[in-house]
Parts: sequence; structure tokens; C-alpha cells
Amino acid sequence: MSGELSSRKAQHLRLTLEGDVGFATLTTGLDDVRVMPRALPERDLEDVDLSVQRWGRRLAAPLLISCMTGGTSQAGAVNAALAVAAQQHRVGLGLGSGRVLLEDSSAAGFAVRDLAPDALVLANLGAVQLHQYRAEDCRRLVELCQADGLVLHLNAVQEAVQPGGDTAYAGLLERIAGVCERLDVPVIVKEVGFGLSPDDVAALASAGVAGVDVAGAGGTNWAAVEGLRDPAAGGVAAAFRDWGLPTADAVAAAREALDGLAAADLVLIGSGGLRHGVDALKVLCLGADIAGIARGFLAAAAEGTDAATAAVGAVCRQLRIAAWAAGAATPADLTSALLQ
Ligand SMILES: Cc1cc2nc3c(=O)[nH]c(=O)nc-3n(C[C@H](O)[C@H](O)[C@H](O)COP(=O)(O)O)c2cc1C
Repeated sequence: MSGELSSRKAQHLRLTLEGDVGFATLTTGLDDVRVMPRALPERDLEDVDLSVQRWGRRLAAPLLISCMTGGTSQAGAVNAALAVAAQQHRVGLGLGSGRVLLEDSSAAGFAVRDLAPDALVLANLGAVQLHQYRAEDCRRLVELCQADGLVLHLNAVQEAVQPGGDTAYAGLLERIAGVCERLDVPVIVKEVGFGLSPDDVAALASAGVAGVDVAGAGGTNWAAVEGLRDPAAGGVAAAFRDWGLPTADAVAAAREALDGLAAADLVLIGSGGLRHGVDALKVLCLGADIAGIARGFLAAAAEGTDAATAAVGAVCRQLRIAAWAAGAATPADLTSALLQ
């Protein structure tokens, strides 16, 4: 089983690096969001301080390298490069699904803590796996990854388009709530690129999650990935090339839902198709507390540590410049008041 999982992970890496895995016409909506430029920021660029404290770690900027991979030697090299970049620039790092690690605790590619001793590191598991794995397994996964928290991903469409995918979604919310209750680290729930609806966000808030990542549409399309991986999936997946809630809408709607629930402490992560630090600024202004990027860092990470460090550093720099040129000094200033 773990051999099959590893080969699927290897195919995911290859296809998301080389394949046509975007949306057909749907976009993130971020190009329609415009920040009001301030020609007179009235402070020095170096006086902008975007650092935040999240889940026991200091981030130099509210940025997360979203969960991608693990379980193969190539995945290990990608995670190692991202870990070095996360440590150097003090951004968060999500690991890919650790199911393979639960099946074989010697599986390669998840041991990043030595490379990123100070970074926020998050372990990852498919929420649908909670039919098989219990809270103790989640705890073991967090320990094996020496992580600061656990991300559970929801990928209903991705599972449903692939032959043999796991679509047993009944009762998942209760299982998620059980994990939140039993783990003493934060539990975050994310989509994988089709977006969380405001109703999903409200349900997850009621389940006791510490954070939600909308992972909106407009970036990587996981139906397309599965369609490329398996011709039998391709015919079904084709209809989902424009499925989902665009990232800009997902973030704004999630913020509204959380504010309506008086759940302001719950951390909102805005991701899905972000290309650079200006996109990151936009999701932060739309109401996210942290901006996340996955595939945008993948090519650099596959190239190696120097390229990954440069790519993450560029996004950090872009975000800092954008915040400054929008008149902001701290993350608290990044609100819709900065938008045109
Ligand atoms: C190669 C690759 C592997 C991924 N694997 C996972 C995973 O194991 N778990 C998960 O929660 N999300 C996974 N994702 C989804 C990303 O975390 C992210 O939600 C999604 O790709 C949308 O963001 P993006 O447009 O910035 O890529 C993966 C993404 C990529 C590109």
C-alpha cells in the first residue's frame, strides 16, 4: 500500500510541475482586487514589521508554504529545500499528507525539524482518513514530524474523480471535532484548491478547529491533476475544470462568516493560486491572517535549496514592499480599508 501511495505522490509532483493543471477560465479573482497605492507612506520601508506570533512560533511575515509532499526521496528533497527556506525567512511550512508515514514510520521526506528548528511546521493528513485513523494516530503523526500543529485536508472532488477514491464523507465533521478535542496542538482544516464555503467555515468553527485555510479556486486544480494521472478519471474530471469558489471570494466570505460567529480568534489562512507577495497582501487585506502558497514554490523547491530560499525570500520582500506602499506598518493594518 505504501508503495502505491509513494508512486501517487511521485506522479503528483511530476504532474503539478509539468502538466496543465490550472483552471479553464475561472481565476482567483485577485486581479480584480486592487490595493490603493500610497505615494507617501510616511515611514521607511525597513520600519514595516509584519511579524506575527502563531501557534507558539514567531513568523517574520504572515506567510505559509502550503502543504505539498513527502513519502518519496524526491519529495524529501523538496521538503528539505522548503524547510531551509522556511527557517531562513521565518515563514510557516506545511508538510504533505503523512498517511504514508503512519503506514511506515521510516518513510522518507518528513524529517524537516533539524533543518527548520525555529519554523512553524504543520503535519498533514486527509480528513477522510479519520475513518481509519484515530486521534492517537494524529498525535503520533504530529510527533513523528515534530510538528507544531496538524492540518487536515478536505478533497472531496479530488477523491471522487479518481477510480477507487475515498468518498466516505458522512460523519467527518464529528470526527474532526473529536481530533480537535483530543489533540493538544492546533488543528487546522483546509481544502486543496476548490475553496471552503462560508457554511463549511462555520461548521468547522463549531467543531473547534484552531484555523481554516480556504484554499480557493484559481490555482491548482486537483481534478485536472487526477485526470492527467489516470485516463479513466480524465473524462469525469473534465467537467470540474472550473469548479470551486475563487480565492478572493472564499477569503472575504470566510472572514464575514467568522466575524458573524464572533470567532475572531480562529486563524484564517487565505490561499489558492497566489503567485507573489502582492497576491498575499490582497488576501490579507480581504481578511486572512496568513497567506499560503503551494505550487508557486514547487519549481524552485525541486531545483534545490538556493532556489527555494530565493523564491520564498522574493515573496517576503514583495509582501513587505506592497504593505509599505499601501501605507501599512504591521499586520493589524492589513484590512479592506487599504483596498480601492
Ligand atoms: C505537489 C502538490 C502536492 C500537494 N499535496 C497536498 C497534501 O498532501 N495535502 C494537502 O492538504 N494539500 C496538498 N496540496 C494542495 C496545496 O496545499 C494547496 O492547497 C493547493 O495546491 C492550492 O494552492 P496553490 O494554488 O498555491 O497550489 C498539494 C499541492 C501540490 C502542488
